[in-house]
Parts: sequence; C-alpha cells; structure tokens
Amino acid sequence: MSNRFEIVVPTLFGLESLVSKELYRLGYDVKKTEDGKVTFDGDFDAVYRSNMWLRCGERVLIKLGEFKVQTADELYDNVYALPWEEFISKEDAFPVKGRTIRSKLNSDRNSQIMIKKAIADKLGHTYSIVRLPETGVTYQVQFTIINDIVTLMIDTTGVALHKRGYRTQANLAPLRETIAAAMVMISYWKFEEPLIDPFCGSGTIPIESAMFKRNIAPGLTRHFAFESFHQFDGKVYNDIVTEAKDSIHRDVTLDITATDIDPYAIEITKENAKRAGVSEFINAYKSDARKLVTDKTCGSIITNPPYGERLSDLEESKRLYHDIYKSFSKLPKWSYYILTSHEDFEKEFGRSADRRRKIYNGMLRCWLYQYYGNKPSKKK
Ligand SMILES: C[S@@+](CC[C@H](N)C(=O)[O-])C[C@H]1O[C@@H](n2cnc3c(N)ncnc32)[C@H](O)[C@@H]1O
Repeated sequence: MSNRFEIVVPTLFGLESLVSKELYRLGYDVKKTEDGKVTFDGDFDAVYRSNMWLRCGERVLIKLGEFKVQTADELYDNVYALPWEEFISKEDAFPVKGRTIRSKLNSDRNSQIMIKKAIADKLGHTYSIVRLPETGVTYQVQFTIINDIVTLMIDTTGVALHKRGYRTQANLAPLRETIAAAMVMISYWKFEEPLIDPFCGSGTIPIESAMFKRNIAPGLTRHFAFESFHQFDGKVYNDIVTEAKDSIHRDVTLDITATDIDPYAIEITKENAKRAGVSEFINAYKSDARKLVTDKTCGSIITNPPYGERLSDLEESKRLYHDIYKSFSKLPKWSYYILTSHEDFEKEFGRSADRRRKIYNGMLRCWLYQYYGNKPSKKK
C-alpha cells in the first residue's frame, strides 16, 4: 500500500477556512478548500495527528479514488478498479454510506448498493471466496456523488470528531463542539482576559475555550476507528498521544465564567468541565443573562442564546435579545460574539455587528455576530 494518500476533512459549512488554518498549523499543505471539505496530502501519521488535533473538522477520511460517472455500470467498473484489498482483508466489514447531489445517478440507496456490490466482487475475486464474512475490522466506506463526480473514502475517525467525549450530558439544543471551538478561534479573546458565556447550556463554549487556551488536544481522551485498522502503528500513535500530553500549557491561568438561568444546565456544565479536565478554570453559576454584571473592564462574551426555533418562542427571544443589549452595552470595552439563527438578530439586539460570519449548525443557517470592544490588533 502506498504510504501517502489524499486526506479529506469534511467540515460544517462556514468552517472550511478555519480547518485549513488548523491543518497549516499542524504542518500540512492544504491542496483544496471546497464547500464543506478540505483536502490535503499525508500519511498515517497525518491521519492520527489530524484526528487528534483538529478542533473544527468533523472527520478524517482517506480518499481512495475520484472519477466521473453517468451510469450505474460506470460506477461499478470504476469502484471495482480501486485497490480495496490494500485496506480491507478478507474477514473485514465494509459498510457503505454516502449521498448523491445534482448527479445523473441520483439515488443514494441505489448508488450505495452498486458500490457495495463492486467492492464485494473485487474482494471476493482477490481472496477467491464467494461469501465475505464481514466479521473482522470495520472499514466504513463513504462516498459522495456531486455533479457526477464520485469520491470514495475510508473513514478513519469513527464517532465524529465533534464528540470529544466530555459531553455525556447535554441540556436542550447543545452546540456542536466544533462550532464552539470555531467561535473561540474566530474571536480576539486573549487568555489573560476574562471570558463569559451567559447562556452556557451544557458548557460547550467555556469548555472549548479552556481546552483551546490550555492547548489540550480535543482527541486526547477518546478513541478513533483507525486504532482497530490492520495498518495501525501503535508506536507512532503512542508518540502522538505522549506529545499531545506534553503540549498542554500547564502554567496558564484562565478566567472563564459560565452562567445560565437553568440550574440543571449549571450542574451539567460542571460535570462536563470536570470530564474535560478544565473545571478549575470555569466558574459556573446560575444567573439571568439580562442581569449580567462584571467589575472587569474588558473581556469577551462568547455565547449562543436561545434561537427562538427550538428553545422558546420567537417573541420571547426577541425580547431577550433586546434586554441583553441593555446589560452588554454597559460594558463598552468588552467584545461580544453571538451565534444565532435569528434572521433579525441585529435589529432586535439594537446594534449592527462589526462583522458577521455565516456558519451552518447542521442544516440550520446561523450567523456569528461580532461586536468589538477594544479594537482588535491586526496580529492575532
Ligand atoms: C441554545 S442554548 C445554549 C447551548 C449551549 N451553547 C450548549 O452548548 O449547550 C441556550 C441556553 O440559554 C439559557 N437561557 C435562556 N434564557 C436565559 C436567560 N435569560 N439567562 C440565562 N440563560 C438563559 C437556556 O437555559 C439554554 O441553556
């Protein structure tokens, strides 16, 4: 098997450039940044490392092939021609999933069946067996067919990267960890300044903030699909784990406050923070965001208030946005970063954002409204 391949990192729409930057910082040259995915070249070391360190990517996939097809026969032949046996041994399982968008082959199900058949025929032929037991290691095959271009990949992540492992409990409408991390990375929050999330819910933003500033690798306490692969090199991976442990900034002190009106949310936040190993940095207590006060002159509010669609009704959210502006505006030197899907947020809040950025929380289109207190310096 070749030691180098193309690696694809799917992302939520709006987070592609952040993932590119993360990969660049990890030392990889990004080949392509497209809607919802970033591609780079690497080896298994890169697969392990990017799974371990990416805060904003959703998974890490090894690309096996890409080709144009318009018929089911072409799909079969091209899939059959790929070197599946280089990854998948004769006992291994190879479930297939994927989707088709704007293509002649427009059925997800039929394409999935055809791809599965082509891989099974190829492996059966290679190993000279009729029935593949699929009782061994699982190699999840993922495909996309977009504008007639088929991409075939093997998932190395398993449970999606946004599931860091610390959030075993969540309140209603928790934010994806990847978006929370993105909000912190987009912000100009400096670790020596205070950070407040006045709608903390299950604590995702405060926890991701603490993990980011302490340089805790998001994958440090979880497992990945690649650990069961035949190709897995435990020694290389153990070195990456050790390096991640050694990279934690243990001398950093942080001033992070997490509040919510719901006492149960505070309980969950505390438990999640403990599991993430950052509870000593997060002061969590029950409070109404409309009464937010602080004696610190400057800092950042990074938050995700109720949207109106899922947690409370629209009118209530509008009133809430109006009310929080009154308390936030008493802190003129603070910056605030507010993520919501509410279309008229700026109008209800009462101030136009200095910057806004579109981020999709799954299928839900949200905006990150950015209000700067002290003008951010050019250098981050
Ligand atoms: C969209 S959820 C936040 C989710 C959170 N980012 C997470 O990842 O779990 C909004 C939160 O706002 C809280 N909330 C609603 N009204 C509030 C208020 N007036 N003051 C403080 N918290 C409030 C809710 O209890 C809920 O936990």
